Amino acid sequence: MTLTDRRLPDGTAIPAIGLGTWRMGERAQARDAEVLAVREALRLGYRLIDTAEMYGEGGAESMLGEALRQAFSAGEARRESLTLVSKVYPHHASTRGVVEACERSLRRLKVDQIDLYLLHWRGAFALSDTLEGFAQLQRRGLIRHWGVSNFDVSDMEELFALPGGTECASNQVYYSLEARDIEFDLLPWQQRRQMPLMAYSPIGQGALGSHPALQAIGQSLGASAAQVALAWVLRQPDVIAIPKAVRGEHLRDNLAAAQLPLSASDLQHLDALFNPPRGKQPLAMI
Ligand SMILES: NC(=O)c1ccc[n+]([C@@H]2O[C@H](COP(=O)([O-])OP(=O)(O)OC[C@H]3O[C@@H](n4cnc5c(N)ncnc54)[C@H](OP(=O)(O)O)[C@@H]3O)[C@@H](O)[C@H]2O)c1
Repeated sequence: MTLTDRRLPDGTAIPAIGLGTWRMGERAQARDAEVLAVREALRLGYRLIDTAEMYGEGGAESMLGEALRQAFSAGEARRESLTLVSKVYPHHASTRGVVEACERSLRRLKVDQIDLYLLHWRGAFALSDTLEGFAQLQRRGLIRHWGVSNFDVSDMEELFALPGGTECASNQVYYSLEARDIEFDLLPWQQRRQMPLMAYSPIGQGALGSHPALQAIGQSLGASAAQVALAWVLRQPDVIAIPKAVRGEHLRDNLAAAQLPLSASDLQHLDALFNPPRGKQPLAMI
C-alpha cells in the first residue's frame, strides 16, 4: 500500500491516511506545540489534513494555516502535493452561508483553495441549497471537490436523487473496530459507487490505543495497538483513515500503520473480538 492509493470518484488520487485536527486550536497555550506537530507530520510525509470550521471555532483552521505557512516557507511541503479537507457547519449550509463560511475558512487557512469541502452533518437547510453553494464555490475555484459527513444510506440516496448530487466525492463517518455498523450497508453502498469513505475516530478517540487484545495482536506483529486498529480500518482499498495525533511518536506510528499487513487469522481474531454487524443500525456519530 502506498500513501496515495485511494481515488475519488473522478479519479483524483487521495492519500489513504491523513491527519485529523479535532481538539486542536482550542487552547492558546497548546498552539505552538500543535503548529510544530503539523509541521512534523508534513516532514514525515502526511499529505492529507482534515479540519473544520467547528474545531476550536476556527482555531484549528487558524493553527493549521500558520503551520502551513511555516512549512511552505521552510520548504517542508508544497501546497500542490497536499489534500486539505474542511467542513461547513450545518447552520451555515444555506447557499450563501456555505460560500461565506468557505471564504472565512480560506482566510484562516491562508490558502486559495480547499481540496475537499464537506457538509459536517445534516441540518435544517435543504440539501439542494447547500449543493448550489458548493457549485458556486467550485465555479470560483475556491473548492476542488465537495462531499458530506455523517450521512447514512437514506441521506446518500436523497442526495444522489438531486441534480448534481452524484458529484459527491466522499462521505466522512465514524468507523473503527468498535463502530462497525456501516459495514452492513453504507460502506458497500459507497464501494459500489467507487466513493471512498473517510473513517473518523479510527482509534476510537485514543481508546483503542490501550486496548489489551489489540496490544497482544500488535505484539506478535511488532506493532502497537493503535497501529493494529488503523491497519484494520485501512485493510479495505476504499477507506481513508484520518487519525488525529500531536505526539511525534503517534504521528510516526500512524503513518507506518498504512504498511502493516494483517493476516487472515489476525482478521478472524479481530472479528471474534469486535463482531461484524448482523443488521441495520442507525449511523453512529461522535
Ligand atoms: N466528521 C465528523 O463529524 C468528525 C467527528 C470526529 C472526528 N473527525 C475527524 O477525525 C479525526 C480523528 O478522530 P478523533 O480525533 O476523534 O479520534 P482518533 O483519531 O481516533 O484519536 C485521537 C486520539 O488518539 C491519540 N492517538 C493518536 N495516535 C495514537 C497512537 N498511535 N497510539 C496511541 N494513541 C494515539 C491522540 O493522542 P495525541 O493527540 O496526544 O497524539 C488523540 O488523543 C478528528 O481529529 C477530526 O479531524 C470528524
